[in-house]
Amino acid sequence: MTQTLRPLIAANWKMHGDLSWASKPTDFDRVYPAAERQHLDVLICPPATILASLADGGVLKGGQDCHAAVSGAHTGDMSSEMLKDAGASYVIVGHSERRAGGDTCADVNAKAEAVTRAGLVPIICVGETEDQRDAGNAQAVVSKQITDSVPDIADYVIAYEPVWAIGTGKTATPEDVDEMHNAIRAQVGAGVRLLYGGSVKPANAKDLLSLANVNGALIGGAGLEMDSLADIARAAPKA
Ligand code: 13P
Repeated sequence: MTQTLRPLIAANWKMHGDLSWASKPTDFDRVYPAAERQHLDVLICPPATILASLADGGVLKGGQDCHAAVSGAHTGDMSSEMLKDAGASYVIVGHSERRAGGDTCADVNAKAEAVTRAGLVPIICVGETEDQRDAGNAQAVVSKQITDSVPDIADYVIAYEPVWAIGTGKTATPEDVDEMHNAIRAQVGAGVRLLYGGSVKPANAKDLLSLANVNGALIGGAGLEMDSLADIARAAPKA
């Protein structure tokens, strides 16, 4: 029912890359030209230090986190308005690496609202730990995270990233992802794009991206090289 949603292939570069990486979107466009990928959105979320310098390459740009305020005495932080100024159209909030650093669902909710206030689209991350999955609580944990982390906004993206699958090489099985995404779909409704994240690679992208309620991917390690990001993007369904 929801494969009509436009796929979103998002690379989260995390704390990788310097100014010499600013030309990578051009490299991406060389291996997968914009004219061949009009059916999908490609997004790169680099370190904020290179956001404004990132080449066009027919890709969208995003931030990896933000502060909820517009401005103020918040040393080391940046607002969604600042990310927008630097070229962002999306901002990731609630990544498990930020939640591990102390972000609560209430913080994530406020950040997502701030992203919307700035006129950008939040990518709100959720996902259970291995212990929570082993205890049979994965769906309940994710459902509660969504209830508490998603403000009353119309335009947002959910990224389901099981914590145990991030950077570990362990990918959730297509059956696990299908089950979780169907549950998330039932909770959030038909219009919200649902991304899967956690060790997505060219080798597993097709199996994951062809699931009915998977509308794209949030990619860490395999999104640092433009050849592998392009291979993943090519695996997104055309309609
Ligand atoms: P990996 O693809 O490296 O597992 O990272 C996933 C992730 O955390 C993307 O936000």
